[in-house]
Amino acid sequence: MYYIGIDLGTSAIKLLLMEGNGKICNIVSKEYPLSFPNPGWSEQNPYDWYDQMIAGIKELVNDFDTTKVAGISFGGQMHGLVILDENDNVIRPAILWNDGRTTEETDYLNNVIGKDKLSEYTANIAFAGFTAPKILWVKKHEPENFARIKKIMLPKDYLAYRLTGVFCTDVSDASGMLLFDVKNRCWSKEMCEICGITEDMLAGIYESYEKVGCVKEDLAKELGLTDHVAVAAGAGDNAAAAVGTGTVGEGRCNISLGTSGTIFISSKNFRVDSNNALHAFAHADGTYHLMGCMLSAASCNKWWMEEILQTKEFAKEQADITKLGENHVYFLPYLMGERSPHNNPKARGTFIGMTMDTTRADMTQAVLEGVAFALRDSFEVAKSLGIDIKRTKICGGGAKSPLWKKMIANILNISVDVIESEEGPGLGGAMLAAVACGEYASVEEAAGKIVKVIDTVEPDPVLAAKYEERYQQFKQIYPACKPLFDIIA
Ligand code: XUL
Repeated sequence: MYYIGIDLGTSAIKLLLMEGNGKICNIVSKEYPLSFPNPGWSEQNPYDWYDQMIAGIKELVNDFDTTKVAGISFGGQMHGLVILDENDNVIRPAILWNDGRTTEETDYLNNVIGKDKLSEYTANIAFAGFTAPKILWVKKHEPENFARIKKIMLPKDYLAYRLTGVFCTDVSDASGMLLFDVKNRCWSKEMCEICGITEDMLAGIYESYEKVGCVKEDLAKELGLTDHVAVAAGAGDNAAAAVGTGTVGEGRCNISLGTSGTIFISSKNFRVDSNNALHAFAHADGTYHLMGCMLSAASCNKWWMEEILQTKEFAKEQADITKLGENHVYFLPYLMGERSPHNNPKARGTFIGMTMDTTRADMTQAVLEGVAFALRDSFEVAKSLGIDIKRTKICGGGAKSPLWKKMIANILNISVDVIESEEGPGLGGAMLAAVACGEYASVEEAAGKIVKVIDTVEPDPVLAAKYEERYQQFKQIYPACKPLFDIIA
C-alpha cells in the first residue's frame, strides 16, 4: 500500500509518497507566498495551502496505482492561528509561528497572569509565536474578527478539516498553542478563560497516529482515490520530523535545519525545564519531548545567498570556505527576532568583527556558524537540565550541506548521524499514516524498521576545541547588543 505524507512548510508544501516498507516513491513540492505586512509580522493564506495540497496530491499520485493509496497524514508548521466563521470561511490570513507582533500580549501572559500559572496550566510560558497570544492580539486589534470566530485551528488541521470534515488536532501540535495541558493531554479550561474563548471553538484531540476519518467521497473522486483513504491526525512539523528521523524513545536528539532551526529531545516521561527556556510538548509517538526553536536557520543562509549575494549556487559559495574554527566574523541569526533561548522578538540579525581583509567567504561562513552557535545555545540549556546528548540525527533543507553538518558536529561537539532521507516531516507524516492504517503496530516499530543511518559526521577534537573558544565569544555578543535591539526595533 501507499501512504502520503504532507509537510505543510512556510515556503512550500511538500508531498511524499511512501510504500508500506518505507521506500519513498515520489516527492512533489508546491510553493505559496509568505507576506510580511509589517516588520516582524508573518502571514499566509490558508486557501493557498489547500489549493497547493490538492494540486500536489494529483501530481504526486499521477503515475501510481491510486487504488493502493491507503492513508494520508501531516507534519505541519506549528503555532499558526487559523480562524473560521460559522460558514467555515477563513476570517483573516493565518498568523504564523515566526510572527512577532504579540509582544504586549506575551508580556501580559508572562507577567500579569504569570509564568508559574502558565507553566502549571500548560507546561510552557508564552512566546510571541505561540497561538494564545495571537488570539489575544486579534481580540484587542480586530474585535470584529474576534466576534466571528467559531473555530480556532492550527495550519495542518485546516487541511485535515477540508479533507475529512472532521475538526481535529493532535497532541504535539496542540502543545504549541499555550491552550493545552501537555501533561494530561487535554485542553486547559483556565487558558480558554484567559483568552476569552470557549472549548467548543477548539478541535477534538487525537494522538498523532490515530485515524480521524476518511477523505470525503467527492474529494476522493476528484483526486482519483478510493472512498476509504484514512486520514491520521499527524503532528507538528518537528514531532513529525522526529518520527521521520527515528527520534523516538528515551533521550534521542534531532536537529532540524529548515526555515526554523530546532533541537528536539524525545523523552518517555513528562518533564519541564524549570526556566521554561525549552518547550515541553507531547510527542507524536504517545510520549513527550523538549524542544528549543530558533526562528531563522536555513532561512538566514537563503536570505544571505539570494537577497544579499544574489546567487542560488549554495554549494559553490560554500566551497570557498576553508578556515573552519578561525573566523573572526560573527553573525547573530535573529532575522525574525529570536525564540529559544532569548525569547526576544526585538532581537535582530547582526554581523560583527569584520576587518579590511574580511572576505565574502568569511561572511558566508559566519552566517552558517551563527546558526550553529545559536543551536548550541539551546543545546546548553538541555545540558544544564542534566540531559546528556552524545549524538543527534539531522534533517531539513540545511542538512543537505556537508559543511554545515561538519560545523554542527564540531560546534556542539557531538556525533551527527546522517539518515537515508532528510525529508523529516513528510516522511514522518507518511509513517504516522501507515501506523494509523495498521501497517505497523506503533510509531516506535515503524521508526525502527524504516529509518536507516547511512553515515556519521564525528567531531574532530582539534576543531571542536577551536570552536569552543569561538562559542565563548559568540555567547557574549547577544547580551551586549540587547539594549540596542530595544532601541532599533
Ligand atoms: C517550532 C516552530 C517552528 C515551526 C516551523 O516551535 O515554531 O519549527 O514549526 O514550521
